[in-house]
Order: sequence, then structure tokens, then C-alpha cells
Amino acid sequence: MRDTRFDTIRVQSPEGGYDIVLGHGTLDSLGRLVGELGLGRKVVVASDTNVAPLYAERVLAVLTRGGFEAALAVMPAGEGHKSWDSVEMFVEAFLDAGLDRGGWVAALGGGVVGDTAGFAASVYMRGVDFVQIPTTLLAMADSSIGGKVGVDHMRGKNLLGAFKQPRLVVADLDVLASLPAEQVACGMAEVIKAGVIGDEVLFGGIDDGRVSYVMRHTSYVMRDDPSRMTYDLRSTIYDSLRRAIEVKRGIVERDPYEAGERALLNLGHTFGHAFEKCTGYNRLHGYAVAQGMVVVCRLAGALGICDDGLAERVERVLGAWGLPVRWGAPDLEYKGAVERVWEAMMLDKKRANGRLRLVLPEAIGRVRLVDDAPEGTIKSVLMETK
Ligand SMILES: NC(=O)c1ccc[n+]([C@@H]2O[C@H](COP(=O)([O-])OP(=O)(O)OC[C@H]3O[C@@H](n4cnc5c(N)ncnc54)[C@H](O)[C@@H]3O)[C@@H](O)[C@H]2O)c1
Ligand SMILES: [Zn+2]
Repeated sequence: MRDTRFDTIRVQSPEGGYDIVLGHGTLDSLGRLVGELGLGRKVVVASDTNVAPLYAERVLAVLTRGGFEAALAVMPAGEGHKSWDSVEMFVEAFLDAGLDRGGWVAALGGGVVGDTAGFAASVYMRGVDFVQIPTTLLAMADSSIGGKVGVDHMRGKNLLGAFKQPRLVVADLDVLASLPAEQVACGMAEVIKAGVIGDEVLFGGIDDGRVSYVMRHTSYVMRDDPSRMTYDLRSTIYDSLRRAIEVKRGIVERDPYEAGERALLNLGHTFGHAFEKCTGYNRLHGYAVAQGMVVVCRLAGALGICDDGLAERVERVLGAWGLPVRWGAPDLEYKGAVERVWEAMMLDKKRANGRLRLVLPEAIGRVRLVDDAPEGTIKSVLMETK
């Protein structure tokens, strides 16, 4: 039975479809939502050291009321812990909880927890059921959907991973109230990305200022009255988040295993990953993606793939959300940084057959893959956008 207070978006996948349930207060319905799926009785809720103190007790209680036997496992927060060590720690917790093949794992957290716990669920006893409870805007808009899970390796991001489709995604917008403003902005980087890739109306809604207005006041609002921020976020982010989810849903349904079209979701990410790598992963992912998007929009303009106004428009929208649109500061300002970034890109795993494959915008809402853009043009755009 569907709850009319919530939006439900169905995603088709090779391993069977799943629902994304989106709304305010969805967490309180978690017991019922998973109950309808007929999942096993034992569950481990995987979370991190920031999210667990805020929401784990509530999630454990709602699951217990729903008749589940729920245990908690907590990893240290942060991208630096999206690692093999954390996978092992989760596996230990699954064993301690007596999780068998009929048990399941719930990831309660941002993309780091979702990717890490999802990977642990995909290898534990050759795979147990997995439910995503994303708590960041980025995880709601992007990482909880489509079944990519994995961890980083010292030599590169996301080098160890698998496809593991969730059985359910439950996104409760109320939890965004505790998310730091810069993390909200990072999530918006992926929402804006979705607009550039595939939804002009989504991008337009953000561009006309309706949404950015709220952000300019966010730090003030949060400091003075956290509940007001929740209220403002309610009326503004909701629509763009729903549309961003639809963009991702369409792409992962058509290309679940990244054989082609799914690569379009990497808009801004080839450069973004290079910035992250060159800063020892000290840069927020959303910041790096925003900076990477500026580079590819400028590059598309320089190559005559889109008109010149596009880059300006994208920069304006990113800037309105407090996202950085130049990639140098704070720690890549030195001479030679362009070369360093270029070298990191050459090592990027997304090189196809030794070629550098980039996603470039043709217009807002339409992108294409371009192989082997000229090195000289790339480097001069990098120089310009530093
Ligand atoms: N699997 C995919 O398809 C996919 C897609 C995009 C990104 N990703 C991955 O997602 C990761 C980034 O995800 P992220 O931005 O959510 O990072 P994150 O999980 O590190 O969360 C950001 C920070 O916010 C904290 N936090 C989370 N929810 C909170 C809440 N409600 N209130 C207060 N604090 C909260 C976290 O503890 C963390 O400190 C990257 O590792 C990236 O590679 C994966
Ligand atoms: Zn991303």
C-alpha cells in the first residue's frame, strides 16, 4: 500500500525494481516500508560517527517496533574512511550480529556510508539484501540510486567496487536540517549536474533564483532557527531533488552496468576526481564536481560544442549556491598545478582504451561524450579556470 504523504519513484533494474520513497517523516514509516518487502528479521544498521548519534536510535527503534532484530555498526565519518578497513569492520559487525544469508543491511548516512556498507553487503556471504537510507542531499539525489557501491584505494578513488541494487531507498528530507550548509551546497552540485545532463526545466528552476535565494540566507537561518531552515528547504529543494532523481533513474534504467549512457553522469567528474586526488582527497566532492563542471562547460565552449553563454550561466548558478567555480584555491594554486592535474587525469580509470573520454554539454539538458579533446585546449582552459 502506498503512502500518499510520500512520493514514490520506481526504479527498474536487472535484479528487480525498487522504490525510492521520498518525503518528510519517511523514517517513521521505515518499519512498514521494509515490512512490505518481506526482508529477513535480522538487520545491521550501518552508519558513521556523525550520523549515528543523530538518527540511529530512532531508526533502531522504528525497526524494532516493526518486528526486526536490529544492531548498529558505526564507521568513522569521512571520505578517508571509505576504505577496505571499514568494509572489514562492517563485516565483523555483521558476524557479531549473527547476520545470515536471510539478513539485511541498512545504510544510514551519506554517500560514504552507502558506498561502503553497500559494498560490504554485496560481498558478505555472496550478498545480502541492502536498503539505503540516505541522509545527505548528495546521497538522496545521486549515490543511493543505481546500485554502484565501493571503496577507495590508496592509488585511486572507487577502485574496489560492485553493482549491488538496493531493495529500497528511503529518503527523509527532515534529516537535511542537521546537514552543514556546505554539505547542502555539495548536494546541490549534483542536482545542478543532473539539470545540465538531462533536465532544462530543473536547471531553469534553480537558475531563476527561487532556490538560490534560500541558500544565501541559509547560514543565518540555521544559526537562528534550525526549524525554519527545514521549512524553507521543504518548499524549495524538494522539487529540484525529485527531478534530479528522475534524471538519474532514467539513465541507470537504460544503462545499469555503465556500458554507455551512464558515463554521462560523470559530467565534471573526470576533472573533479583529478582535483580530489591532487589534494589528497581533502577537497569536498561536491566542490570538486562544481569546479570540474566549470572546466567542461568552458571547454565545450572553446571547442564550439556549445555557445559561450552556457559556461557563464552554469558558473552563476553554482556560485549562487556558494560553490567554488575556480579550482586552484586553497591548495592547488602553485605553479605546475595544471601539469599535476593533467597527469592525474591521464591515470584516471575512466580513460577508455587509453583515450581521455569527457562528458561535454551541448546545451543545458543535453550532453555528449567526446574522446581525445586536444591537450593544448584542455590545458589552456585549466589555466583560465584556476
Ligand atoms: N555510488 C554512487 O553512484 C555515487 C554517486 C555519487 C557520489 N558517490 C560517493 O558519495 C560520496 C560522497 O557522499 P556525501 O557527500 O554524502 O559524503 P559523506 O557521506 O561523507 O557525508 C558528508 C558529511 O555529512 C555528514 N552527514 C551525513 N548526513 C548528515 C546529516 N543528516 N546531518 C549531519 N551530518 C550528516 C557525514 O558524516 C559526513 O561528515 C563520495 O565518496 C562519492 O564517491 C557515489
Ligand atoms: Zn559525484
